[in-house]
Amino acid sequence: MGRLILVSLICCFLAVVVTAEDPYLFYTWKVTYGTIAPLGVPQQVIMINGQFPGPNINSSSNNNIVVNVFNNLNEPFLLTWNGIQHRKNSWQDGTPGTQCPIAPGKNFTYHFQVKDQIGSFFYYPTTSVHRVIGGFGGLRINSRLLIPVPYADPEDDYTVLIGDWFTKSHAQLKGLLDSGKLLGNPDGVLINGKSGKERKSRPLFTMKPGKTYKYRICNVGTKTTLNFRIQGHQMKLVEMEGSHVVQNVYDSLDVHVGQCFAVLVTANKKPMNYYMVASTRYTKKVLSATGTIAYVGSKIPASPILPPAPVGWAWSLNQFRTFRWNLTASAARPNPQGSYHYGQIEITRTIKIVNSNPVVGGKLRYAINGVSHVDTPTPLKLAEYFGFPEKAFQYNIIKDNPEVAAAKPATLAPNVAQITFRTFVEIIFENHESTVQSWHLDGYSFFAVAIEPGKWTPEKRKNYNLLDAVSRHTIQVFPNSWAAVMLTFDNAGMWNLRSELTERRYLGQQMYVSVLSPEKSLRDEYNIPDFAELCGLVAGLPKPHPYAGA
Ligand SMILES: *[C@@H]1O[C@H](CO)[C@@H](O)[C@H](O)[C@H]1NC(C)=O
Ligand SMILES: *[C@@H]1O[C@H](CO)[C@@H](O)[C@H](O)[C@H]1NC(C)=O
Ligand SMILES: *[C@@H]1O[C@H](CO)[C@@H](O)[C@H](O)[C@H]1NC(C)=O
Repeated sequence: MGRLILVSLICCFLAVVVTAEDPYLFYTWKVTYGTIAPLGVPQQVIMINGQFPGPNINSSSNNNIVVNVFNNLNEPFLLTWNGIQHRKNSWQDGTPGTQCPIAPGKNFTYHFQVKDQIGSFFYYPTTSVHRVIGGFGGLRINSRLLIPVPYADPEDDYTVLIGDWFTKSHAQLKGLLDSGKLLGNPDGVLINGKSGKERKSRPLFTMKPGKTYKYRICNVGTKTTLNFRIQGHQMKLVEMEGSHVVQNVYDSLDVHVGQCFAVLVTANKKPMNYYMVASTRYTKKVLSATGTIAYVGSKIPASPILPPAPVGWAWSLNQFRTFRWNLTASAARPNPQGSYHYGQIEITRTIKIVNSNPVVGGKLRYAINGVSHVDTPTPLKLAEYFGFPEKAFQYNIIKDNPEVAAAKPATLAPNVAQITFRTFVEIIFENHESTVQSWHLDGYSFFAVAIEPGKWTPEKRKNYNLLDAVSRHTIQVFPNSWAAVMLTFDNAGMWNLRSELTERRYLGQQMYVSVLSPEKSLRDEYNIPDFAELCGLVAGLPKPHPYAGA
């Protein structure tokens, strides 16, 4: 937290125009390569300010976050803030469809407000396959003082970033995908950058006997669902991707790629050390990492007997069904209008997202409804904003209700669907494959109303949870199953809908939704920031400011 300066209302001189501005958090981040050996083999990773994982951002609802990112890699780089909604401001979302990448040796300042959000999130690179070798870190949003939180203040608040891990270099991993091969099985699992197999491993966390701690667990990995558990301790689930949930108690949690959970753990067992365990699910060989939690004042080592992981994905589906939104907890909510009554809003559009034949021209690609996305030299949002989208891409090339054309190869093209501002839309993710998928939408939370085996039909709507489904931003889909989410598209901008599994995202399983306000008003969307880089077709052009008024 060294570089963090909190400027709360020093701007009194401007008080005439700027009243009660929300506090600012300033960060300067240097992105570099670095070498670590978490699995015993020295390898190149991406560090931020010399740290792997990168620094934690610790903010409170409505804070303004300013991160000046210096790219000292030899490749273009971008970061996205998974789950941060950037209301009216897709300019800060950090995807190749919304901004020009930060060139090597250059810097870009992200400037966004965590408006009306609380919870546990993380950031990660969206360029190339950088995420596989690091550049990720935790991002938490605390409730503002005075806003009641549905549990007592924990003694401390810990971030636990878990993920599968490869020992191959970035060039090797990218080379595999570029030549149409998969990355294969990961080589291990890391917890906060460590495997637990290091010769001298110090405790990752400490707990004082009798006290309760919050652990925020996120799966920052590449492709593998992980089961997380702590020897001898149960976890009380309190929050998930920005929503307070009904506080059930779990022995272990399946954390799919891209997801975050916050749990409370009380140090009420025999004072000694305990292992936390993150182990792979649905892989032939189970890989795991351990991290030590030490009770303060005790030197007794943790037992080598690790708690077992659950077996099969039906267990995970049942666990999903126990997740409920806490309807009575007061908390910041980005879109409170109607959010309690989502079950009564009329669905205006149903979009079914289906995998299709992954091969294009003999090479492995992944697709959505027959289209395998490719990034354009001119970011999609810039082409649209400058008024000539047709020079960069074509809208709406996929169908909402695709036939499952398994035999037909996918088309390579930028994939952008227009969605009418403020409409209430249902998205069905249908998985016809034998692996678990994980889907994420930027700019929004959605109500995760159902996951079921089989194929989706309109009759399945009677099985939806229309009362207290959790509002979140990432959802898994089990093999040969479907998942349904619902949301109001009330956040104007260009937003990435993507597989959280890096090899699939990189090979085209992503798309953008363009949500435009017909009003062209600053009330609905911000103009491009003055400091934004321009590239591709818009390089050197004067910046238009089409949105006016407030
Ligand atoms: C995070 O922010 C909260 C609220 O401002 C503060 O109480 C807490 O000490 C901070 N934690 C860390 C680790 O900086
Ligand atoms: C780059 O960093 C400098 C400070 O070192 C800052 O003044 C400038 O605004 C930054 N540029 C961008 C595009 O963020
Ligand atoms: C939901 O939040 C309320 C209000 O903060 C709290 O009193 C209650 O215990 C929570 N309910 C559950 C089931 O977790």
